[in-house]
Amino acid sequence: MEALKGVRILDMTHVQAGPTCSQLLAWMGADVIKFEPPQGDATRGQLRDVPNADSLYFTMLNCNKRSITVNMKSADGKTVFVDLLKKCDIMMENFGPGVLERLGFTWEKIHEINPKIVVGSIKGFGSSGPYAEFKAYENVAQAMGGAMSTTGVPEGPPFVTGAQIGDSGTGLHLAIGLLAALHQANRTGQGQYVEVAMMDGVMNLCRVKFRDHQRLTRGSLSEYSVPTHQGMGAAPRAGNDSGGGQLGNAIRCKPGGPNDFIYVVVQEAVWDALARRIGPDLGIPDLATDPKFATIGERRKNQAQMWELIGEFALKHTKREFMEILNPLDVPCGPIMSTDDLANDEHVRGREMYVELDHPQRGKWYNVGMPIKLSASPAVIKRSPLLGEHTDEVLKEVLGYDAGQIDKLKTAGAFSAPPKKK
Ligand SMILES: CC(C)(COP(=O)(O)OP(=O)(O)OC[C@H]1O[C@@H](n2cnc3c(N)ncnc32)[C@H](O)[C@@H]1OP(=O)(O)O)[C@@H](O)C(=O)NCCC(=O)NCCS
Repeated sequence: MEALKGVRILDMTHVQAGPTCSQLLAWMGADVIKFEPPQGDATRGQLRDVPNADSLYFTMLNCNKRSITVNMKSADGKTVFVDLLKKCDIMMENFGPGVLERLGFTWEKIHEINPKIVVGSIKGFGSSGPYAEFKAYENVAQAMGGAMSTTGVPEGPPFVTGAQIGDSGTGLHLAIGLLAALHQANRTGQGQYVEVAMMDGVMNLCRVKFRDHQRLTRGSLSEYSVPTHQGMGAAPRAGNDSGGGQLGNAIRCKPGGPNDFIYVVVQEAVWDALARRIGPDLGIPDLATDPKFATIGERRKNQAQMWELIGEFALKHTKREFMEILNPLDVPCGPIMSTDDLANDEHVRGREMYVELDHPQRGKWYNVGMPIKLSASPAVIKRSPLLGEHTDEVLKEVLGYDAGQIDKLKTAGAFSAPPKKK
């Protein structure tokens, strides 16, 4: 049985941060009703690759949901919303600051309508503090949560990471909060307001950078290959340094293309085996006993030279060949996998992490699979809904409206586009 079977979610989220969360909950079996404005989630039409079809931006974040369109700027639309609030366990949104309040629905009001409902909210910066009124997107959160200042090389500009830690990362945080609040509501009968700020979520993911920030007050960080103690308190951009207790780096491999690299961690326990394997090929048969690299302290001090030696060896092998050399030696390593490598990887396909789906508008497409594997409740991934595909179904099945009521609401404009702003 699906783990969240019987849990119904009124999902007002849009773009990426919120939909990541609700898609995950849908994959765990929740009945997620995506509650969209009549023109739909803006991402349906963004970065379109097939004319007139929902974009991959939308389809990849909204699987296993039902879609209903409701005009919240009409009195009848608000009535439908209130009726749904009474039938749902969770309501979630990631509108800009004050949007829900302007529509007339504060947390207090929603709690009054359905005391047991859990409300989940993502904001760029939360509902309190000097930044509360600002909107945010992924890279704004990465900039303000500490990720950008610590990504890149010290002499270069700050960089964003490709992983969507501001949006999808925040969605994951929200999912945890919602499940905890749901568990509590089931015990107490009282829902609560669960808020995750994107900036807070990114800070949480940068926790080890704040470890280094505090360590810097006592001296330089010996594991970094870049000089770190410059009288400044800020954790530096560390390039590809490991950032942990073990030394690590990305090493270029044959034939030297943009993703022909392998990340190698020279764990303390593996140096001897690694040095014995690569030393002879480099013409240094005694590498394992060379005092310059004998202890982790020495390797830290001389790491530039150590990486050069490993790099010289790596250039004679592809990243896959080098992985095959390192794995039997127990050296933690990982070839840099491009999206193309991953889309065609046997391990990835075997774990259902890149799944083929069909869609009435776009035909065959792929989604990244469910990364959380529940032994008794495996996820079954279904395509995203078309805009308003389930409006009538939800009105009838969840709210018990009859055909006459539905027609009346339609005529009154409950489901059609709001008048354009002047
Ligand atoms: C992402 C974001 C910047 C987008 O900004 P935006 O496109 O201007 O959208 P907003 O959320 O501010 O506003 C949505 C509007 O649609 C309206 N709307 C939403 N659902 C509606 C519905 N069902 N019917 C009618 N109107 C609706 C809202 O009332 C609001 O209108 P208003 O500005 O007149 O009050 C903003 O939503 C935001 O900061 N969200 C929080 C942080 C976040 O999640 N960011 C990451 C997204 S991946």
